[in-house]
Amino acid sequence: MDASNKYSIPKGYNTTRLILRSLRYFRRNTINAITINMEKFGDTYSVVFPGNRLIVVTRDLSFIQHVLRDNHTNYHKSKHMVDKIGKLFGNGLLFSSGSYWLQQRRLIQPGFHMKKLQGLYSIVAERIETLLASFPSGQAVNVYPAIYQIAFNIILRSLFDIDLSRETMHEISTLFNEMQEFVIKDLNRPLRRLTYIFTHKDKINMRYRDRLRVIMHGIIEQRRRDTRTYNDLLDMLLNARYEDTGEAMSDDQIIDEVLVLMLAGHETTANTLCWLLSMVVKKPQVMDRLRVIAGSTDIYDSVKNDYINAVINESMRLRPAAFMTDRMALSDDGVGQWSYPKDTVIIPFFYGVHRSKDHWESPDAFIPERFLDDAGKLRKMPAFFPFGAGPRLCIGNNFAMAEMCFFIHAFFRHFTISSTGQEPVMMPLITLRPDKVVLKVWPIPGLTKRSVGQ
Ligand code: HEM
Repeated sequence: MDASNKYSIPKGYNTTRLILRSLRYFRRNTINAITINMEKFGDTYSVVFPGNRLIVVTRDLSFIQHVLRDNHTNYHKSKHMVDKIGKLFGNGLLFSSGSYWLQQRRLIQPGFHMKKLQGLYSIVAERIETLLASFPSGQAVNVYPAIYQIAFNIILRSLFDIDLSRETMHEISTLFNEMQEFVIKDLNRPLRRLTYIFTHKDKINMRYRDRLRVIMHGIIEQRRRDTRTYNDLLDMLLNARYEDTGEAMSDDQIIDEVLVLMLAGHETTANTLCWLLSMVVKKPQVMDRLRVIAGSTDIYDSVKNDYINAVINESMRLRPAAFMTDRMALSDDGVGQWSYPKDTVIIPFFYGVHRSKDHWESPDAFIPERFLDDAGKLRKMPAFFPFGAGPRLCIGNNFAMAEMCFFIHAFFRHFTISSTGQEPVMMPLITLRPDKVVLKVWPIPGLTKRSVGQ
């Protein structure tokens, strides 16, 4: 592309320099590599990939708002991500674009309104209390696998409020996790693709996908025969009707949306909760305050508790599970001093905005109070994008906040934690995972388990 005259493209790396740097780049994690590049080029920089694919990475607030909100109709999800992930996980909300996305979003959105979610809260809170009963304790517990399982279990139960057999649960979670790990490796280690010719990984994962869809079809058929009333997400998807035709989604469309809700709705919350514990454990006053709140309030009130919300927000500011996203320009566009051609991929780098000195005082410090006003009430911050922005804002944000509030409430009622001195390492894959979160975890002695709703 000879775009140098026509467009005003941010400085950055061209193909040759990119190839020279790529070895060093791949050894670093994505977040550190982008941060170093921004120190060199500023808040917005470009990379020209082989084949003249132009990518612009930005932590500029007005650029991000332009792409995600003000001129969102000019942007689709990038083809690269959609092709790689959508091939296995279908064409649900997260991967669709344009008029199909809008139609699906309008259809599904009402199911995630606060009022509608109230019905799911009892399912979520009950799951958390039950699963915490077997939470591991000891001198050096890596809490990540247990919290991951809890989050997976919660999304599954919120989708299908039925007692799936242990074998079915196991099969769903095995197939799902295999596919998810495959996609993560595929996206982060593109050269590995060459080995698939010999290992047939693509085909194997397509078989996993097909098997998973057969199980989902079975669950939907069983639900259609069931005469009982349900209040789960599957019920919402089955009963949703398109405004114009009054028709319901096909089973395949429902399965696409189920898979997307599963994908988007467990690792993000698991990561956030793990990062939160890893930061809170170093702040005794924060832990004390959470413990007092948990011991003196009802679990359902935690959703509206300003302090719990502030602690979650501060954790998502420092360690945003969705540390960046991507969009592709449908036509030439520009913002501020920059302009760029059609097909440019823009990467809004949320992690960078959350750590910017321009927007935050002591940006690297964990200070939940920054999210509270003088009266102790939660306040909105403009440079805060844990759930994205604009019309594609996370559809599950209220659900996720409620789940995390319930978890914190229940966890600090049942357990005390202290630090082992081990720091989790960031693994920015599709989401920002910790490698492990090793804590000392002890059940609170003599605590009579308070059942949900008491
Ligand atoms: C802490 C937890 C979560 C975080 C940090 C998070 C973050 C995000 C972000 C940043 C986006 C926007 C992506 C973009 O603009 O490209 C998004 C979209 C989405 N999220 Fe979440 N999410 C969380 C939990 C959930 C949960 C629990 C669900 C479902 C129950 C969910 C379902 C979705 C879906 C379906 C989309 C696509 C929406 C659309 O494009 O219309 N998320 N999420």
